[in-house]
Amino acid sequence: MNHHHLSKMHKLFITILIISLFCKPSAALGEGTLSGGWKPIPDVTNPVVVGIGKFAVIEHNKVDHASLKFTKVVKGETQVVAGLNYNLTITAADGSVEKNYVALVWDKPWEKFRRLVSFKGPV
Ligand SMILES: *[C@@H]1O[C@H](CO)[C@@H](O)[C@H](O)[C@H]1NC(C)=O
Repeated sequence: MNHHHLSKMHKLFITILIISLFCKPSAALGEGTLSGGWKPIPDVTNPVVVGIGKFAVIEHNKVDHASLKFTKVVKGETQVVAGLNYNLTITAADGSVEKNYVALVWDKPWEKFRRLVSFKGPV
């Protein structure tokens, strides 16, 4: 190969590189396994789900100086992120009155990392 051929291939390579750079993000957004949507939790009595719900109420009590008592998770959904996002509707007792709250918890079990992202309610 002479120098002329090499530079042609070089241009072709750059062109392919640029095309792939612009095409990749849209493909990843479309059906990438990491860009998860929210999926309903089939069993809200699952101990892991209940644990997340209890954690949400305990954290909320700490942060907002409340004294709610966890009753149960009513419903919830999860989203795959770096770990799992849990969006749970939780029943908790506010004194003698039971109310529902919506908690968002970010969980990375392998790092023992769990954070209350938001706690809203009563709803
Ligand atoms: C979480 O679930 C509640 C109740 O179904 C819903 O109103 C809220 O929009 C959800 N939040 C997110 C971040 O999806």
